[in-house]
Amino acid sequence: MSCPVGNLNGNDAQQGEHLGSDVGMLYGEYLMLDKLLTAQKMQSNVHDEHLFIVTHQAYELWFKQIIFELDSIRVLFNRENIEESSTLEILKRLNRIVLILNLLVDQVPILETMTPLDFMDFRDYLSPASGFQSLQFRLIENKLGVKTEHRVKYNQKYSHVFGTEPEAIEAIKNSEQDPSLSDLVQRWLERTPGLELDGFNFWGKFKDSVDKLLNEKEEQANKEPKEHIRNYRLMDIQKRRDVYETIFNPSSHEALVSRGERRFTYKALQGAIMIKFYRDEPRFSQPHQLLTLLMDIDSLITKWRYNHVIMVQRMIGSQQLGTGGSSGYQYLRSTLSDRYKVFLDLFNLSTFLIPRGLIPPLTSEMKDALNMGWRTHQNHATNGDS
Ligand code: HEM
Repeated sequence: MSCPVGNLNGNDAQQGEHLGSDVGMLYGEYLMLDKLLTAQKMQSNVHDEHLFIVTHQAYELWFKQIIFELDSIRVLFNRENIEESSTLEILKRLNRIVLILNLLVDQVPILETMTPLDFMDFRDYLSPASGFQSLQFRLIENKLGVKTEHRVKYNQKYSHVFGTEPEAIEAIKNSEQDPSLSDLVQRWLERTPGLELDGFNFWGKFKDSVDKLLNEKEEQANKEPKEHIRNYRLMDIQKRRDVYETIFNPSSHEALVSRGERRFTYKALQGAIMIKFYRDEPRFSQPHQLLTLLMDIDSLITKWRYNHVIMVQRMIGSQQLGTGGSSGYQYLRSTLSDRYKVFLDLFNLSTFLIPRGLIPPLTSEMKDALNMGWRTHQNHATNGDS
């Protein structure tokens, strides 16, 4: 299988294995069903073990497809200039990942038709096999941008999980070292048109708008005759100032990044906020959709984690160790926190929104830069150009 693990400079989408032959093939041959459908080797004679195996295999196949899409998206993103047509392709593939993840979330209840007693009947045969050893799951996390330091302690050392599989260790190392989707998205956001200090200077204008908003609110609050209400309002405004301080003061931002509470670079965060504000402008419409899909991916993986952990509690309770050696339910519950959200900052952008009326108006140059096609064409037409 050719898969550009660690090779983001390659051509667009990677290919599957090419065995092209002139001879026609039958359905079963093409899909290698002889291999696929004989790969369900039950270790017990418990009826539900079949469902258990098929469910896991179906997950692994979809994980493979997600990685395939993710790798190709990272290649497209790894370009200095991302053409409009590439953005469309990126959107299409991200959307496909989102739909697959939806399916994976919805698939959990099927396995829940197995009862804990049924599971108990064959669980001992599995040990020490565990989803914890799913290489592809780990690769998806890394390729999206989950960082080792953000993982739960138990989950930071993969050498004790994949110790005897040098290829797995190598693949994980590569996935950690190569630019993740998050890294590439940040580089792209840093180039958002309009951030230039000597140009539109969105950030400077945005800061002025926030100052204006908070100063006006403070002025109003000071007019409140009742002292306790006045103090409450002033305190609230001060809290808002402190929140905005975390984005307007680079060192406050860096402090949050070093604590893992913020992930994006300072400039990338600015780009994301700008896109959020001006998403109705034609050139920001696709980037805005893209940011929404990235949040969908994070949300759906969190939903999968949640469904999985509830299923685990239902099957083995909260006091039994997992077959992979973790504390089981307790460990999995700890992975539900924000530390596993790669695009955490995109969720938190809403904290910094300001009323529409205060969003800095675009200059005519910026308006032109963010418009495409029609306007230019009309201008040409009036100039006698066709
Ligand atoms: C009866 C059903 C299941 C039970 C009782 C179960 C149990 C567990 C437990 C206890 C863990 C923690 C690691 C350990 O083993 O110590 C775990 C991890 C995991 N399981 Fe399952 N599991 C079930 C079904 C599935 C299915 C269908 C998948 C699909 C691929 C899956 C994928 C995973 C993954 C990827 C992890 C690692 C999660 C992480 O480290 O964040 N599990 N599972």
